[in-house]
Amino acid sequence: MNKPQARTTPLFAITTPLYYVNDVPHIGSAYTTMVADAIARFHRLQGHDVLMITGTDEHGQKIQRSAEAKGVPPQEHCDAIAATFDALWDQLNIQYDRFSRTTAAKHHPIVKDFFQRVWDNGDIYLSKQQGWYCVSCEEFKDERELLEGHYCPIHSNKQVEWRDEDNYFFRLSQYQDQLKALYQERPDFIQPESRRNEVLNFVEKGLQDFSISRVNLDWGFPIPNDPKHTIYVWFDALLGYITALLDPDDDPTLDNALKKWWPINIHLIGKDILRFHAIYWPAMLMSAGLTPPEIVFGHGFLTKDGRKMGKTTGNTIDPVALVSRYGSDAVRYYFLKEIEFGQDGDFNETRFINVLNADLANDLGNLLNRTLGMTKKYCQAQIPAVSASDIPEDNPLKALGVELRDRVTQAYHQLNFSHACTDIFTLIQTCNKYIDEQAPWSLYKEKQQKQVEIVLYSVLESVRLSAYLLSPVIPNLSNKIYQQLGFDLDFNNSSQINHPDLFQHHAQWGILAAGQPVKKPKPIFAKLDPPTATAST
Ligand code: MSP
Repeated sequence: MNKPQARTTPLFAITTPLYYVNDVPHIGSAYTTMVADAIARFHRLQGHDVLMITGTDEHGQKIQRSAEAKGVPPQEHCDAIAATFDALWDQLNIQYDRFSRTTAAKHHPIVKDFFQRVWDNGDIYLSKQQGWYCVSCEEFKDERELLEGHYCPIHSNKQVEWRDEDNYFFRLSQYQDQLKALYQERPDFIQPESRRNEVLNFVEKGLQDFSISRVNLDWGFPIPNDPKHTIYVWFDALLGYITALLDPDDDPTLDNALKKWWPINIHLIGKDILRFHAIYWPAMLMSAGLTPPEIVFGHGFLTKDGRKMGKTTGNTIDPVALVSRYGSDAVRYYFLKEIEFGQDGDFNETRFINVLNADLANDLGNLLNRTLGMTKKYCQAQIPAVSASDIPEDNPLKALGVELRDRVTQAYHQLNFSHACTDIFTLIQTCNKYIDEQAPWSLYKEKQQKQVEIVLYSVLESVRLSAYLLSPVIPNLSNKIYQQLGFDLDFNNSSQINHPDLFQHHAQWGILAAGQPVKKPKPIFAKLDPPTATAST
């Protein structure tokens, strides 16, 4: 007998930025992490071997100063804040595989190895650095980018500081042509298109070497052979992505870290840290002889009620308060569905409540509830004895349902979550219309049992498929729907769902098995009251 062919499982590695631990997480960090989690979950659903990386960036002046301000040793400060990120990820139902901390013991040898490769390649030299430094960005700024009074354009309440010191530099200028070739050969490397253009314009103007060490700073790794210099926090932090690739039992060497998951498929970042990821990072990697990652996606910024968020203006959104009040699925759904990924997006609590009530409580929740009610009444609480092939091709639900898997898969792969959700909700809305038009309660009275069964089967199957395809976004609600439909599948348990055959089966329209007992209908999402006090802090 022939041996079955070995299955080669596609690998998929995705990162969020490694967040600064100067303060507890803000909504921007929560946003990227929710998105990364949804993408990772979709790939797991398809049966891919997935590594989702998040973590914290813990060195540098900004962190050292935050610890000093609190009067605690920096490591103690980092431990405390890193724990608040972890707690939020738990609350938001984030299934990360690695939490990469730049103060982890295994990170130092990786940074040393990498630094040595770049050094050996002749890309590091000592020189003079003069310029304006924003500690909050951990970045030198051009004088012309600054706001009046030497304020940082990004942190408009923080003044930049003048620096005049010896630093080690990385020869970024040497990589201008190679970077241009990279952008040309791999047009998808920087996404979306607008960010790509931004980078192309920047590089076109000419690249300057950048400094990768600081003096008068203890909180970081020393430069090998010149320990009065500390490695620049960004050089150290970007390498945290590589350290994250080590298996827990691996010796911390670059070779071990790179053996399975390199190159990373997607770095998700916000638009303010695009240059580091789309210019500095690939150049550093080229210098060390490594292939750049596949995609750097720079998303937009969130505003609140149409205004830039800031602590000084008092209009921030506290992600912990938001999730405590509304639950993880609600928050995940709003940010993924309502914001076009890549564009700036707004949070407004009234809109938030309206969207959730309309989509989750009414369109989806009520639909399931009333259909299960009728299934109990007209079909002995069992999936009606209908097979998908009995249903005509022009049935509006079947017509949309059979195409949904491909449409939604494409949307998820293009990181277009808003489209994925809209496509799924088109089916859900069509279900509501179809039920009202078909009026199974009248068909039942007219003793048209077969027709009643076709209507209920098509709706239940469409709700099932929708729940399956929405599970990367709203896993808890998808679980409730699946359970009420009589399945025993937990979307939060990756060992249960991470299989390509399961995807092949469940992502189709028409797999509900006749006779499967359904559960008593229970509302899956309670309608929210209009906002009274604000959830923001
Ligand atoms: N530590 C660096 C990243 C190093 S990656 C090797 C860093 N950390 S951060 O905590 O300041 O920022 C984390 C992310 O939050 C960035 O992607 C940034 O774009 C994002 N956001 C900060 N404010 C934001 C909004 N108002 N809206 C959306 N994202 C925002 O940068």
